[in-house]
Amino acid sequence: MLKTDPIGIFDSGVGGLTVVKSLLEKMPGESFIYFGDTAHVPYGEKSQEQILSYAERIMDFLLAQEVKAIAVACGTHSSISLPQIADRYNLPVVGIVEAGARQAAASTRNNKIGIVATQATVNTGSFTKSIKRLNRDLDIYEMACPLLVPLVESGKLMGAETEEAIKKYFDPLIARQIDSVVLGCTHYPFLIPAIQLYTGGRMMLIDAAGETVEELKAILSSRNLLNDSEEKPNRKFYVSGEDSSFYKVGKLLIGDVIREVKKVELNW
Ligand code: DGL
Repeated sequence: MLKTDPIGIFDSGVGGLTVVKSLLEKMPGESFIYFGDTAHVPYGEKSQEQILSYAERIMDFLLAQEVKAIAVACGTHSSISLPQIADRYNLPVVGIVEAGARQAAASTRNNKIGIVATQATVNTGSFTKSIKRLNRDLDIYEMACPLLVPLVESGKLMGAETEEAIKKYFDPLIARQIDSVVLGCTHYPFLIPAIQLYTGGRMMLIDAAGETVEELKAILSSRNLLNDSEEKPNRKFYVSGEDSSFYKVGKLLIGDVIREVKKVELNW
């Protein structure tokens, strides 16, 4: 394994670009390979078996390209696949659940935490379990928000339809006087401006991407694997399905870092 090897990052679609955004800020010299599983987005209603098998194929694809570490930039894969696959591979694999849990436990002032995520993630109770391990006295309310991923995938970050969906999911959190909400799906942080507009700063919105990238950075540093070469990093984007919408929306979300999106056929 070389310091200059890329980091593998994956999600169902554009959601993991929240992690890419943090990576560009915190580890700008790193090369990476991003995989958006657009053939299967949204993941929310998929079974645990399906989701795990997608993760296995995607891991094979990334490992074949000699990545030095993997960021599971997806709350659903972090909740379902990561606990089952992490030990199989001889490289660092980090997800967003522990990072989000740590931030939530540190952020709440009134001990009332909300988790918004996909239905598949909520079914696992992964965030609640991780937060309870840190502080069992916290009051945690989890909610699935199936309308949000399609909105982000279509680039609708503002507007009436988005506001309507946010109202539906955040009114119950406001009613419960929740003061810290974990955005437990990596698509959701792209909606932070719209959510803030609606909630008016009543609650802290937790994006686990930054903390996840910090965790990865610490692991790479401890293994002497941070890329310190002067060479320009190589950034590649792959998808399993729709590529033109990923390209268009991806550019809207993170700008010109996305130069090209290649569609690959994996053996699903
Ligand atoms: N962004 C993913 C997550 O964090 C997947 C969302 C989806 O495809 O439904 O859960």
